Amino acid sequence: MRFDVLTLFPEIFASYLGQSLLRRAIDRGLVEVRLHDIRDWATNKHKKVDDRPFGGGPGMVLMAEPVVQCVEAVRSLGPEPGHLVMLTPQGQRLDQAAVERLAAERRILLLCGRYEGFDERIRLLLEPEEISIGDYVLNGGEVAAMVVIDAVIRLVPGVLGDEDSSAADSFSGERRLLEGPQYTRPRVFRGLEVPEVLLSGDHEAIARWRAEQAFLRTCQRRADLLAGRDEPREPRTEQKESRRTNQRGDKLGE
Ligand code: ADE
Repeated sequence: MRFDVLTLFPEIFASYLGQSLLRRAIDRGLVEVRLHDIRDWATNKHKKVDDRPFGGGPGMVLMAEPVVQCVEAVRSLGPEPGHLVMLTPQGQRLDQAAVERLAAERRILLLCGRYEGFDERIRLLLEPEEISIGDYVLNGGEVAAMVVIDAVIRLVPGVLGDEDSSAADSFSGERRLLEGPQYTRPRVFRGLEVPEVLLSGDHEAIARWRAEQAFLRTCQRRADLLAGRDEPREPRTEQKESRRTNQRGDKLGE
């Protein structure tokens, strides 16, 4: 999986790219991340890449020429043009389904904006997929690009080491539920005990408990994720079972 990041601030990525999981994936040839400074494609002598908006208004707009030329040049550097993603609060909100779709690409170009936005002709000419990481405005697309890379590489085979560990993530798998509670040692911390079922060694019971807890947590926190599901009986039975489970094993809050 190859990422090409097009940005005015490539240095922002240095510490992220150095972190161990990504570093290991890069060293093992599973992931490649190349940074490209949009300013290198500025055509004027002051290396200016932004200008005031026509019609007036606050802030500066990224100019079409350096951005389009940068994208075209970077595309030609690889064996395939790649899938172009523009990071912008005007894009479709990123979710795990979109991450899974992106993980199926072999090459992704991530175009990061700054200032007040992109000249509209960048969109019209390049027709990128526009992605937002949430309904808030960042100072630029760089943090959003790191979010995309971080979420996508979890799905690249071999990156996590344990092939199963992304399958249990919240939003993953067929059911797309939040992940339930997890515990590690010690068994008792400040009077709070690990649910007995997790210590039982009964793998079926543990899997059942985890499925119940995932469902319960999703009902409590993100009922919107359950909307439109074709599982009419499930909420009632699973909530009842979870109460039983709580009495049996989960002593938290007692
Ligand atoms: N650039 C600025 N805000 C953004 C957001 N919310 N998502 C993606 N890119 C952005």
